[in-house]
Amino acid sequence: MAAESVGALRPGLDPRDRSLVTVVALASTAQVDQIPFHLDRAMDNGLTAEEIDPLLRRAGPTADTPAPCGRRLPGIVLHQENTPDQGVWKLILNETYTLSNGVHIPKLGLGTWFIDDDKAADAVTAAVAIGYRNIDTAQAYGNERGVGEGIRASDVPREELFVSTKVAAEIKDYDDAAAAIDASLTALRLDHIDLMLIHSPQPWDNFRGGDYAEGNRATWRALEDAYQAGKLRSIGVSNFEQRDLDNILSACTVAPQVNQLLVHAGNTPTELLAYCDSKDILVQAYSPIAHGEILKNPDIRAMADRYGVTVPQLCIRYTLQLGTVSLPKTANPEHMRSNAQVDFVITADDMDALRNLQAQDYGEHSVFPVYSGK
Ligand SMILES: NC(=O)c1ccc[n+]([C@@H]2O[C@H](COP(=O)([O-])OP(=O)(O)OC[C@H]3O[C@@H](n4cnc5c(N)ncnc54)[C@H](OP(=O)(O)O)[C@@H]3O)[C@@H](O)[C@H]2O)c1
Repeated sequence: MAAESVGALRPGLDPRDRSLVTVVALASTAQVDQIPFHLDRAMDNGLTAEEIDPLLRRAGPTADTPAPCGRRLPGIVLHQENTPDQGVWKLILNETYTLSNGVHIPKLGLGTWFIDDDKAADAVTAAVAIGYRNIDTAQAYGNERGVGEGIRASDVPREELFVSTKVAAEIKDYDDAAAAIDASLTALRLDHIDLMLIHSPQPWDNFRGGDYAEGNRATWRALEDAYQAGKLRSIGVSNFEQRDLDNILSACTVAPQVNQLLVHAGNTPTELLAYCDSKDILVQAYSPIAHGEILKNPDIRAMADRYGVTVPQLCIRYTLQLGTVSLPKTANPEHMRSNAQVDFVITADDMDALRNLQAQDYGEHSVFPVYSGK
């Protein structure tokens, strides 16, 4: 069903109404579990159930679009300028990358830094209800207990969720790291963690200073042992530069599967991204919205307006098109919903413009080592 005919059902309705088009596309691919959320959005946008229902009913079988359930369901050509591939909208929350060890990781996750422990369970259950399957926490965030509670309280089976945490940056010793891994499992009250990272190659009070090569190798051995013991499904690092990665790669029995880095429009570490790619290390983009700072950038706003999207949507889409996992943080369910609506394509020219943009002024947040420019 073409978007125009969707629009023709209701004079004055924008034929490219995203929520309605998404409902119809989801019906076409039998992703029925995702439909209620988008139906709500369509109705928020003025559509009635009576108008939507026939659309869903008319999504009958066709020969050329295989559906996840094994049946063949209709392909829908959406007349949307920025629609990927065959014009069928993809729902980012269902998409995954495959790590070097074969583990699947959802492309979009929820960051939880600055979500207090007593608010974390609500944020996680809201995110999971919306469709998020990838939750990022850290020992340093002080909210592993709440994150674990939210994971357990959600209706989604544990094996469908991907939970990451991080060994505190200050731990550079085998025994302390082994104890810290167990402490995270205890705090989260989970029997395994999907991804555990070394939070930083240096303790925060000496970020990008000192020589912690030996300590990082010791902490890495603890991660390898916990991985081999089945406590961790995948292991990685964060804030590691090339020399930090080489230190681990020269001595490891399991290579890091992930490097979580500061990546956003305005700060794109192109060489490090390429180096990680050459070593089959998936990059996760943290602070994809520049910790909120980029919301003030008029050039980014102008580009977002051109695509008819919000600044966070443009920024999240940018990190996804770089091939990274995107980890926007929010405790606000409205923001969670809109941050997952990134089914548009940034042109190659605009990707270049965003990649070349330099915007590393984090204002009052510059006090944090990760935004200090080091
Ligand atoms: N490995 C590391 O060293 C490291 C360092 C930093 C961050 N991280 C990870 O990356 C995650 C994300 O980074 P981040 O927390 O620095 O910042 P971010 O995701 O770049 O930005 C978060 C800010 O953007 C706002 N925001 C989010 N969605 C929005 C929307 N749709 N509309 C308007 N405002 C929106 C949030 O406000 P609201 O809360 O009001 O929505 C918050 O102020 C962290 O939570 C953490 O999991 C890792």
